[in-house]
Amino acid sequence: MSAEESVGAVAPRRPRIVVLISGSGTNLQALLDACRDGELTADIVAVGADRTDAAGLHRAATSGVPTFVVPPADFTGRQAWDEALASQIALFEPTWVVSAGFMRILGAAVLSAFPNRIINTHPALLPSFPGAHAVSDALSYGVKVTGCTVHLIDQGVDTGPVLAQRSLRIEPEDDEHTLHERIKEVERELLVEVVDQLCRHTVHVVGREVKLT
Ligand code: GRF
Repeated sequence: MSAEESVGAVAPRRPRIVVLISGSGTNLQALLDACRDGELTADIVAVGADRTDAAGLHRAATSGVPTFVVPPADFTGRQAWDEALASQIALFEPTWVVSAGFMRILGAAVLSAFPNRIINTHPALLPSFPGAHAVSDALSYGVKVTGCTVHLIDQGVDTGPVLAQRSLRIEPEDDEHTLHERIKEVERELLVEVVDQLCRHTVHVVGREVKLT
């Protein structure tokens, strides 16, 4: 991206959020709780998943939020899946799309339908350790500090402009599970804060820089 792009991020009243998940959905739960408690002035209008057994779908249902599932196996190829996912998301007219543990790479149809309006949360300090094994990769490398990153999604894998990061120390006794759980505690807080900021501002993306006004 070279030219300035202003994103129509601010709906007059309550921004609409679609959350995409693949797993347990604790980040989703943090967003649901923040909306319920008034910490986040937005509505989670739908939760989408790539698998019917994503536990986070129950969290959405419990909160009365509509859900949809678009499993790649139901489609002839990646492009057809991506187009179907874009259509499903679009039905809910989101202001923001939040990928919160959605373990698929979004394709051109989704990205072009919601330019600079999709964010992702990643359990490492990007650009270190992108991809699906960020926590074990950080442990294997032997870094002493890791964390989480909330970023805009672009065409790459975990390469979009960074919105916010938070760090934490790796303890000698950490294994992948304990470390990921500690990261997720920080990640949930950060995600709610970032979504709140995005919902309350207009977002300008200039190259890798993101400005909120
Ligand atoms: C998070 O750490 C996210 O960054 C990663 O998967 C985890 C999802 O956790 N991609 P949950 O499903 O929100 O509990």
